[in-house]
Amino acid sequence: MTAPRRVNVGIVGAGLMGREIAAALRRWPALIDHPVDPQLVAVCDINPAAMEWFDRIDTVRLKTTDYHELLADPDVDVVYIAVRHDLHEQLYVDTIRAGKALLAEKPFGIDGAAADAVLHAIDEAPASFVRISSEMPFFPGAQWAVDYVRSGALGRVIEAKCTFLHASDLDPAKPLNWKRQKQFCGEAGVMNDLGMHTWHVPLRLGWVPERLVGVLQDIVTERPGPDGTPVPCDTWDNAVIHSWTTHDGAPFVLTTETKRIAPGEKNTWEFEAIGMDGGVRFSTKNPKSVEVFAVVDVPGVGREQSWQRIDAGSQAVWPTVTGANFETGFSDSILQMWAAFLAEFAGELGERFGTVRPEEAALTHRIFSAAIASHEQAALVPLER
Ligand SMILES: NC(=O)c1ccc[n+]([C@@H]2O[C@H](COP(=O)([O-])OP(=O)(O)OC[C@H]3O[C@@H](n4cnc5c(N)ncnc54)[C@H](O)[C@@H]3O)[C@@H](O)[C@H]2O)c1
Repeated sequence: MTAPRRVNVGIVGAGLMGREIAAALRRWPALIDHPVDPQLVAVCDINPAAMEWFDRIDTVRLKTTDYHELLADPDVDVVYIAVRHDLHEQLYVDTIRAGKALLAEKPFGIDGAAADAVLHAIDEAPASFVRISSEMPFFPGAQWAVDYVRSGALGRVIEAKCTFLHASDLDPAKPLNWKRQKQFCGEAGVMNDLGMHTWHVPLRLGWVPERLVGVLQDIVTERPGPDGTPVPCDTWDNAVIHSWTTHDGAPFVLTTETKRIAPGEKNTWEFEAIGMDGGVRFSTKNPKSVEVFAVVDVPGVGREQSWQRIDAGSQAVWPTVTGANFETGFSDSILQMWAAFLAEFAGELGERFGTVRPEEAALTHRIFSAAIASHEQAALVPLER
């Protein structure tokens, strides 16, 4: 294996997503034999306070409130941009023209005209490399679902559905933010916010709708503004799109659902495809579980239709150091365990849940010894303290 290629990354927009991506880049050693060694070197936000968080990342050598300065830096190879939708077109076009590779955020421009303007800039720069962020299909179970469909196991497709659900907008007292205002989020509202998540997999499977019906709801029409008085909240909250598309030349029904008001849901991404020969379902609600349908021989019963559940494990697109039989999310719990361990070491854990104490670990041995003694004596035994 040749040495990985160093790629210097710049982030524009140091908000929710800018920080998430910076944190992901710090976990890079988890990947096995990746051809690229990324380093976050530059950050831009119009709000200097938002960039203070990046002071802890020692590879960052440029912090600026003017994205032009970041784009002019010859050492920045790749730019990730996470800003309001109304700013996408200008920033994406300028980034492409500056000769930087771009990981853009959805919805890739506030509307179709903005997206077309970015496509035009890409056409004008043949060496450009542009992709758009959509991470939910990178769950191991989602990858299995895609592979299942590609295997042909569905047979003739009857229907498919891709869903992305949130519920924090159930609270009408939640203050307004830019994502709930048409001028910043766009006419498409929740579809601009969540629609890329539901269309990434269907479009990659070649399922382009030929005809469709949109069922849209604007449920909460006002929210508290900065001073608490109600102001218009003029974006669609929920959107269901029923469409006709084809798989292997045969028509089927494809539905996408994007909802900000789906009570009980927190970032739930679901994919389901049902055919005459097979079926597959995955939901981030049960992140290690994939369901597949088949007609099977049930001993003593006969041929029966069956939904079977399989654990997907930890591995998705690129191999990681995480054991394949661990679940997705395992690495997050390791991070949390170390956070608790080192916080307690520093005397800062407070009332939070901590790592195992030595006396608890020693007690487990007495429990195990008692279990062995109980087994050997076929008796209920007391625990030695
Ligand atoms: N992939 C995902 O799962 C996901 C999740 C949330 C948001 N998003 C997308 O990410 C983008 C940003 O969303 P967010 O939640 O991070 O927003 P945010 O409001 O948390 O952060 C945006 C940041 O951009 C900064 N900013 C505004 N104008 C700027 C400019 N001209 N130059 C530099 N910085 C500027 C703001 O000060 C703010 O800190 C949107 O396109 C959104 O749809 C994607």
